[in-house]
Amino acid sequence: MTSRSSQRKRVLSGMRATGRLHLGNYVGALDNWVRMQDQYDCFFFVADWHALTTDYADTSKIKENSLEVLLDWLAAGLDPERCTMFIQSHVPQHAELHLLFSMITPLGWLERVPTYKEQRDNISEKDLGTYGFLGYPVLQAADILIYKGDFVPVGEDQVPHVELTREIARRFNMFYTRKGSYVFPEPQPLLTPAAKLPGTDGRKMSKSYGNTILLTDPEPVVRQKLKTMVTDTARVGRSDPGNPDVCPVGDLHKIFSHGCVICAYLLRPRCFLRPRNRATSPSPPALRPW
Ligand code: TRP
Repeated sequence: MTSRSSQRKRVLSGMRATGRLHLGNYVGALDNWVRMQDQYDCFFFVADWHALTTDYADTSKIKENSLEVLLDWLAAGLDPERCTMFIQSHVPQHAELHLLFSMITPLGWLERVPTYKEQRDNISEKDLGTYGFLGYPVLQAADILIYKGDFVPVGEDQVPHVELTREIARRFNMFYTRKGSYVFPEPQPLLTPAAKLPGTDGRKMSKSYGNTILLTDPEPVVRQKLKTMVTDTARVGRSDPGNPDVCPVGDLHKIFSHGCVICAYLLRPRCFLRPRNRATSPSPPALRPW
């Protein structure tokens, strides 16, 4: 456990308990978290109750999925000596604060959250017209405010949830504290730079598209998945050089390949790869270069 006395700003973030993580999760969040550990007082947790808002009819995988997420975090370099990691449902105060926040959160605020309408309309195989699903961002607000986090590293889709968290904090402070004082500070979203990470079919890597490369995939599986990937679709012949800027495999190279692989590309005609910018791009995970 890290202590607050360390004057470092506090960072808090969570991931839903979805099971084994893929390269998109790594590039989009985890790699960033690993690098934050020494800079901030970090709290990272597996949101198993959030998983329940959509998977309530079959809860059999949630426990196993939570552990798999945690194992992938450890494998990627989150270190329990340098950050605090936990499972949401092990801290029942998240549910208590969620209950209290639900008393003061106007329905209109929740109905306007973009992910609510979007997911309700798009996920047809589950009935998401539930009280729990509507309250998803209230639970997220409790997750964040309970630790009085300063920053919440999230992807763009989660920014409205952090905004709502700020509004709930403001409303709570208005009702229950004297003017000028507050109980809950308003957290700021820390936007994770959106890396373009395509899956094996060229669409965004996502479990729901079935196009992922998992952190736990063994090397032969990774090779096999890469071999079947879509490349530059404008090529006429199979042996024609492609343009890596419109090639999903090129996108993966830019993120994961070592400089020497990229230089080999540079020597080829019609190849526009530039060496990775080490200051801004994530470090490659512990995968062997292919
Ligand atoms: N809603 C987040 C997601 O789907 C997960 C999450 C739950 C979260 N609680 C949180 C993220 C608190 C940041 C802070 O990715």
